Amino acid sequence: MPNNLQAYRGSLLHFVADPAFSAQSHVWHEDGLLIVAGGKVQAAGDYAALRATLPPGAELHDYSGKLLLPGFIDTHVHYPQTDMIASPSEGLLPWLETYTFPTERQFEDPAHAAGVADFFLDELLRCGTTTAMVYCTVHPQSVDAFFAASEQRGLRMVAGKVMMDRNCPEFLRDTAESSARDTEALIRRWHKRGRALYAITPRFAPTSTGEQLRLAGELARAYPDTYIQTHVSENEAECAWVRELFPASRSYIDVYDSYGMLRPRAMYGHCIWLNEQDRVRMAQTQSAAAICPSSNLFLGSGLFDFERADQAGVLLSLATDVGGGTSFSMLQTMNEAYKVARLKGSYLPALRMFYLATLGAARSMQLEGTIGNFAAGAEADFIVLDPQATPLLQRRTARGESLEELLFALALLGDDRAVAATYAAGRQVHARVMT
Ligand code: GUN
Ligand code: ZN
Repeated sequence: MPNNLQAYRGSLLHFVADPAFSAQSHVWHEDGLLIVAGGKVQAAGDYAALRATLPPGAELHDYSGKLLLPGFIDTHVHYPQTDMIASPSEGLLPWLETYTFPTERQFEDPAHAAGVADFFLDELLRCGTTTAMVYCTVHPQSVDAFFAASEQRGLRMVAGKVMMDRNCPEFLRDTAESSARDTEALIRRWHKRGRALYAITPRFAPTSTGEQLRLAGELARAYPDTYIQTHVSENEAECAWVRELFPASRSYIDVYDSYGMLRPRAMYGHCIWLNEQDRVRMAQTQSAAAICPSSNLFLGSGLFDFERADQAGVLLSLATDVGGGTSFSMLQTMNEAYKVARLKGSYLPALRMFYLATLGAARSMQLEGTIGNFAAGAEADFIVLDPQATPLLQRRTARGESLEELLFALALLGDDRAVAATYAAGRQVHARVMT
């Protein structure tokens, strides 16, 4: 991390509130300056106003004509599924059987895990994603490989070992006891080591016995500042299966609730087939929903209901869910989210989508002040977006329209090509090579 002061000039955008609930949600400086010292944001504001505060030794990087934003946050993604992205299947359950489980088996081998972790993290950085909540596999060595690769790059990442003790192939099965023991050892090894954070990760209710979920809930209570991540109410066939497996529960999410797994820092993937009471419970407990539109469209799972989630006050963020998702790019994820909202009769402004991929995610993870915006003292994870990255973007954004229109074009037409550079804790970790 460079110790001397670094300053970055460009159009600066970050959020201080949710645009869906506040008229003063964002800070925009067309000619802005971001000042970084010791890996943290020292100041962010107008270039003309801040320039005078720069000491003589400060290095000034000129990104004029480009946008400086906080790094994107992807709140639900499976690194072991990198190599099976875009695998065809008729829905979630056959897709798991045919592609997911055989692919995840390979993570028994630490060398394989390390190779995929390297590629995965570099791909995230190319797409401008600086933090993610990541599923590993059932193998503890898949977690070690992931956090080692993340530590090398200086990234703030959340990850955990999948817990899965039934309804899956023998070669991927742990036991309630071994999963709790391995999870606790991994928490002690990795949680809060550098920028690493641990997530207790039962895959989803169908692949866990009640005993495994009970032990996961116990760990979540014993280590309250760890994360929890799992899937809920993604697909109708899955929901029917959960009703059969847990007949005493009021609903799918109530299964997790009954084991003490609804709490702050709990991230629930999908949340499509929820009822009103489920949403109220999520909001009451500050449990968060990770919305995965490209995956939901790809697997035909369903359409997330933004309006009902907002009415209940559920914490929201966007996620790729690769390999169910079809892109690592949060811009492409916004593109799909926009269309999902339209099909549900709601409307997602671009400002809201950029909020959900930055500060909204940080709030969902109880990390506001640490990542997600340019508040003084926040970790300097930021990206440089290029509105002229492709001939089409260049042509479309040449018309000098409003900020909303500029962001909308970037979300709908942009992808990894729109990310000119990515910085983590003030250090450049990706620079696009122009072709
Ligand atoms: N439900 C249980 N496991 C998975 C998974 O790996 N991907 C998705 N999309 N849903 C799941
Ligand atoms: Zn998933």
